[in-house]
Amino acid sequence: MTNKFGFLSKLDFMQDLASVFIAGINPAIIHNLEKYYALKKVHYLSAIEDIEGDYLEFGVFTGSSFCHSIRCCKKLAKIAPKISSTKFYGFDSFAGFGDLTEEDKHPFYTDENFSTSSSNVNRRVRRVAAGLDFKLIPGFFSESLKNGASHLDITKSRVIFIDSDTYSSAYDALTFCIPTIQAGTFIILDDYYSYRGAESRGVARAFNEFVSKSGVKVRQVFTYGMGGVVFVVSEVIR
Ligand SMILES: C[S@@+](CC[C@H](N)C(=O)[O-])C[C@H]1O[C@@H](n2cnc3c(N)ncnc32)[C@H](O)[C@@H]1O
Repeated sequence: MTNKFGFLSKLDFMQDLASVFIAGINPAIIHNLEKYYALKKVHYLSAIEDIEGDYLEFGVFTGSSFCHSIRCCKKLAKIAPKISSTKFYGFDSFAGFGDLTEEDKHPFYTDENFSTSSSNVNRRVRRVAAGLDFKLIPGFFSESLKNGASHLDITKSRVIFIDSDTYSSAYDALTFCIPTIQAGTFIILDDYYSYRGAESRGVARAFNEFVSKSGVKVRQVFTYGMGGVVFVVSEVIR
């Protein structure tokens, strides 16, 4: 009997073409595209569950994913109008990582890769937000988050996006979020497997500590890109 897959596998030209194309794509592009899909899925999933609350992004950089979240919510408002009441909060030093501890040092997480201008980002977001409520909070998290979420009138989080790469920044961000967490809050963790997969470092460590000290139960929803993971809070025990 002829094997139709055997026939396809002999089409070396087609396989080489696909391989050359995929090998040539910049990994950052693959990661960002999957990140955009992840954000879209999460906004959709929380909208159809009727979850109220704000969008909190830690690590905004030039504002690409922040603007994308706003765009997703605008589109989703057509099927889930309540989503328009989301306020978008973005936190970033806009100056990179600052002084990193020995355990947070990483070959790719350096200020040269991640410095930007907060006024340019503000301008970019304002153009996209038109009509939706947003606030960018500049500063290193150790300073900008120290007065707590209530200080910024954030009471409930709908989507939390941790994209600041290091343990200490993710720890500060997740600790800040604890009083805002509700059943159904989605937590997106970029770079979950960084630091050679060590659970004792990076975002994975911060998240494990957050789960044990906050009294929340979480379930993994899906993974995306180059090591991103999405969780949903399934229960809050206070
Ligand atoms: C990977 S970039 C964020 C990318 C952005 N979410 C996107 O997809 O368009 C990481 C950002 O985290 C910020 N960051 C890292 N550590 C920080 C800290 N301790 N305090 C404030 N911002 C920090 C950096 O300035 C950088 O802009």
